[in-house]
Amino acid sequence: MSLYAIGDLHLHFGSVLKATHQRTDPLWKHHEQKFRLQCMRLLQPQDTLVLCGDHSWGRNLSEAEPDLEYIATLPGRKILLRGNHDMFWDSSKTQMLNERYQGRLFFLQNSFLPYGEYAITGTKGFTFEGPFYLDQHRRIIGWDQDAEAHAQKIIRREAERLRISLDAAQKAGYTKKIMFLHYPPTCILEHESIFTRLAEAYSVEKVFYAHCHGAARFHDSIEGTLHGIEYQLISGDYLKWQPWKIF
Ligand SMILES: [Fe+2]
Ligand SMILES: [Fe+2]
Repeated sequence: MSLYAIGDLHLHFGSVLKATHQRTDPLWKHHEQKFRLQCMRLLQPQDTLVLCGDHSWGRNLSEAEPDLEYIATLPGRKILLRGNHDMFWDSSKTQMLNERYQGRLFFLQNSFLPYGEYAITGTKGFTFEGPFYLDQHRRIIGWDQDAEAHAQKIIRREAERLRISLDAAQKAGYTKKIMFLHYPPTCILEHESIFTRLAEAYSVEKVFYAHCHGAARFHDSIEGTLHGIEYQLISGDYLKWQPWKIF
């Protein structure tokens, strides 16, 4: 029994591809085939794969369905988190999605799922991504205050969802926890955040996040160990479509 994770598949079996880099970057060429081959090679039916959001370019569930079907036919148990591009899944639709894909896909929000003695917890998360103002040396000298205030609202809401997930695991008696986010836990201005503080408060062992793709963004957030917790980026292009083996 093994646990794997990856994020940002950005599938488009049922929708129009709008991201030009996905058409032009060789890393993204037939990435859905590369990823499926890696999964067939690595995953056994008893394994678990956590997919950390941005599953589909579909603008609604009917456009996203072929992408969810593709994920459902991969080996192992599949647990999905919301990403910012997952238009098929607004927060009120989690129960409907879980009923519709019962036994095939698990949509994680305000809850947790067991993996052996561990609880798999998480939420979409959020982080401030600018606009930033730069000087001639490309150093950050300021940022849009309104955008930052708006980001803080979303961060508070997502931190509450994370707290609910962690509490649910705690109440069920899980002392060992792994945390998954779509967004990185910190923005480029921060060394810690409400998400890292929650990870510490609930004795989380490892934190995995996605969303940062394209080489320029691979080092936007925490990598390695902070206050005893391991942090790891697992976006698909960063991993070159090979799911990251956690255990
Ligand atoms: Fe993404
Ligand atoms: Fe994203």
